[in-house]
Amino acid sequence: MRVKFLPQNIEHEINPNESVLELAKRTGIFIKSICGGLPSCSECRVKVVAGEHNIIPPNFKEKSLIGSAYFIDHSRLSCQIRCMGDVTVDLTEQVAKEHAQPASKKPRMPMRSRKDQPRSSAPRHQFKPPSTEKKEGDGGGDENAS
Ligand code: FES
Repeated sequence: MRVKFLPQNIEHEINPNESVLELAKRTGIFIKSICGGLPSCSECRVKVVAGEHNIIPPNFKEKSLIGSAYFIDHSRLSCQIRCMGDVTVDLTEQVAKEHAQPASKKPRMPMRSRKDQPRSSAPRHQFKPPSTEKKEGDGGGDENAS
């Protein structure tokens, strides 16, 4: 089973039970996803342009998220598409989303965790407990008295 991504014109083998969104992530193809495939965000919409007979029709939840787009242009949620044969999907909407993202939202290199950061040999903070020893002259008398 192969999935062809347009307009990139790239084909990849899809594993049984793998969604098109998972395949795209595995192969480095951008498909926007906020919910990670719950489904709830409907950001992962793609158009099925060929092989629609090789995918299971959308369930009630998916239809309620896509709305009439399913009937108008065969949009589907890529996180819900499981293939039983070759399929071609059009990612034109996803490409536009990728380019519309502000630079701050684009994927970045993962931040280093605190564990990975080099350790300094100097202690960051040294706790000094208050002294309990009595200082000389703390006998309660007035030392300034003449
Ligand atoms: S990833 Fe959110 S609905 Fe598909």
